[in-house]
Amino acid sequence: MDSLFDAEGGAENRGERLAELSRQVAVCTKCDLSLNRTNTVFGTGDPSSPLMLIGEGPGENEDASGLPFVGRAGKLLDDILAAVDLDRDMVYITNVVKCRAANREGGRMKNRPPTAAEANACDPYLQGQLEAIKPEIILCLGGPASKSIINKNFRITKDRGEWHEVYGAKTMATFHPAYVLRQHGEDLQKTKRLVWRDIQEVYKEYQKAMEKRN
Ligand code: URA
Repeated sequence: MDSLFDAEGGAENRGERLAELSRQVAVCTKCDLSLNRTNTVFGTGDPSSPLMLIGEGPGENEDASGLPFVGRAGKLLDDILAAVDLDRDMVYITNVVKCRAANREGGRMKNRPPTAAEANACDPYLQGQLEAIKPEIILCLGGPASKSIINKNFRITKDRGEWHEVYGAKTMATFHPAYVLRQHGEDLQKTKRLVWRDIQEVYKEYQKAMEKRN
């Protein structure tokens, strides 16, 4: 896709480029997700971090607050990061789509995965974030993010935990924290073990990237 930025930009322009993109997202009407949103959810954290986390899209709490991963899944994400001494200020967190995807069911809005058309409509913003931030490591959270970023045929249960080279970044996918929260008993323990293994691999790369900067 075409770059949203004409000029070559260094680290000093990163904040400005992200701020401009965020302004574009805030008034975006490229797809119907804009019709029901309370807030757009652009991204948060450290845009200079070597590590970028990409989720699927905002849920109810994120739509209400304008911040990614602030609900139950977000709390688990904090725990996953804390397991390797990271916190959300040390990474950059965003989503494939910037508006909540939900359907009305029985008088309530129920989250649903974004459609391919919605993900495509939002893709220039994610591409713009990737271009501005130039992460060295990307962690995709769940199937939809992995399909958007790594490969449309990506299968999270089979392909998670493996490294791929995407946008010049070492890229891995792990289970989405909301998926982890839906597991029970043995399955929950097994899924958690795999996510913890994945975040440790990601952290090793994060440490290497930080060492190179020092
Ligand atoms: N799930 C996501 O994929 N992203 C969020 O921001 C919140 C929940």
